[in-house]
Amino acid sequence: TLSNSTNIFWQDCQIGRAERQKLLNQKGCVVWITGLSGSGKSTLACSLSRELYSRGKLSYVLDGDNLRHGLNKDLGFRAEERTENIRRTGEVAKLFADAGLICVASLISPYRRDRDTCRSMLPDANFIEVFMNMPLELCESRDPKGLYKLARAGKIRGFTGIDDPYEPPLNCEIEIKQDGGVCPTPTVMAGQVVTYLEKEG
Ligand code: PPS
Repeated sequence: TLSNSTNIFWQDCQIGRAERQKLLNQKGCVVWITGLSGSGKSTLACSLSRELYSRGKLSYVLDGDNLRHGLNKDLGFRAEERTENIRRTGEVAKLFADAGLICVASLISPYRRDRDTCRSMLPDANFIEVFMNMPLELCESRDPKGLYKLARAGKIRGFTGIDDPYEPPLNCEIEIKQDGGVCPTPTVMAGQVVTYLEKEG
């Protein structure tokens, strides 16, 4: 990996991932939820975290909006800032997975390449990409924060889906979509992910 630091050395501890996982009786992984604003990413993340908790599994939610209040508060929404936002979050998610937790990351993460970078940081089966495949019209009609309205009025520039790109995944592990024009409930969405996680051990 490229680093700006020189003369640095990796330090290993005696307690490793395997021991932590044994202690927690679970396997660490990253569930990465991507999709437009208003597509239900945070709703799924919370519902999934609750469902896992009820099954005795420890998870932690990394929410894009929330991280932008702290770790990523220096970043805006230009392409390179979104890329850095995703890279940093991917690194943190990797640490959580290494700690043995089921890390649920919920960010728009509009660029395929950035999501793939996060995927490449982890062993193959440990990155589960979940695509909230909801039509823009639906997300816009929900407009929970009134941001689509502001974007349409030109008061926000570079809003994802309006005047900024969103690249849908080409080979995600899980796709959440409407069924006959009806959106799955948070419980059903979480169930879809839990079923996958159980199947994959
Ligand atoms: S990204 O693209 O992954 O870096 O974005 P993320 O960190 O997930 O932050 C998305 C939330 O920021 C708010 N917001 C915007 N979204 C998209 N484009 C622009 N220009 C923008 N400005 C502010 C918005 O509330 C997003 O929240 P969600 O939860 O996705 O609705």
